[in-house]
Amino acid sequence: MVVRASFRLGNPHSELFPLEPLVRACDDLQPDCLIYGDVQGNLDLRQEILTQFDWYYRDCKPQELLLTYGITEAITLTARSLLQKDDIVIVEAPTYPWALPEFRAQGAKVIQIPVDKEGLRVDLLELELERAARSGARVKLIYCMPTFHNPAGATMSLSRRLRLLDLARKFQAIVLEDDPYFELRYRGSNLPPLIALDKSNSVIHSSSFSKLIAPGVRIGWLMTHSAQLMQSLMKLKPNGTNPMLAAVVLNYLKSGALSDQLYRIREYYRQSQEICSTTLARLARLQISACEIAGGFYFWLRLPPHWSADYFAMYTGKHQIDISSGNEFFAEAPTEPAVRLAFSSFSHAELRDKLEQFVTIAEAYHHLKTTRSATV
Ligand SMILES: Cc1ncc(COP(=O)(O)O)c(C=O)c1O
Repeated sequence: MVVRASFRLGNPHSELFPLEPLVRACDDLQPDCLIYGDVQGNLDLRQEILTQFDWYYRDCKPQELLLTYGITEAITLTARSLLQKDDIVIVEAPTYPWALPEFRAQGAKVIQIPVDKEGLRVDLLELELERAARSGARVKLIYCMPTFHNPAGATMSLSRRLRLLDLARKFQAIVLEDDPYFELRYRGSNLPPLIALDKSNSVIHSSSFSKLIAPGVRIGWLMTHSAQLMQSLMKLKPNGTNPMLAAVVLNYLKSGALSDQLYRIREYYRQSQEICSTTLARLARLQISACEIAGGFYFWLRLPPHWSADYFAMYTGKHQIDISSGNEFFAEAPTEPAVRLAFSSFSHAELRDKLEQFVTIAEAYHHLKTTRSATV
């Protein structure tokens, strides 16, 4: 079956799914993976995750890790365990919008703070935290994507990471670090995740195998140094995470297949990202600027200030190029007109072809905007 590629979705390219190694990993399953499992999830898998990513998760322990059905469930668990009506959650502008219903379902008020090319504007965050404290409100949670932000592409600098943690400690807020792309760096040097810098038990970190193996695997993890937070998160998950699939993923990791997979996908997406950078640079003459990215799956394209992101996305959609209007990625009013292009699901040949079509459509739209006064 062919999986349809689109600029709208952050699906991995389907030819990069490691089907054969996954099938081999099912060969040697033991009956103990067919009973209800450990509440925190398969202990050997938790240990193996820390071993596979030891360069990233220095000093983290298996008891600080809870297996989840992807980051999606980690967000839900965090929202349910921490938030009450009228609590404030701070998110980035733009943000990953599928987290927002989880915060709002608990009655929390969501406030956005802009991201620039160094990540979350911690100077504005500080002002917001002070303002909330003065008014007697409580910021319980700060939700952010410090590494290869979806959709903005930015990576938070080390100094901002440290400042963010200082502020979280000072104002007693928890930081939820959403981090699915950390193994997908195409250039530059790695930065430590917030969880590795956290000295005051202020961070819940989450990642998953969705972008590295396949989203259908639905195995991810959350991590915290706080035993108290771990206890309250575990209470919401009495049956643990899919023991059978955890055993398959454990076999897969133990076979050594992940390092080959990571090498392969990083190289593939690095080339995809270069194809995009080169082609999208041609849009500068239309006053459309693409963010520079060092990793991840997304380009955030800033449109001329008088363009409507929704109209432009509708126009490209009418011409069979589906992109996301940037307006979908804001918790409050959009701070700029922009669109998001997810490049990961395409083969290189398809990507070149679709990008050429996108540039042609953008030129036609630009022409319409400069020659017609009507709204398009
Ligand atoms: C920032 C971010 N968080 C969470 C997710 C969902 O992750 P998972 O498949 O692990 O639930 C995605 C998927 O695109 C994402 O980009």
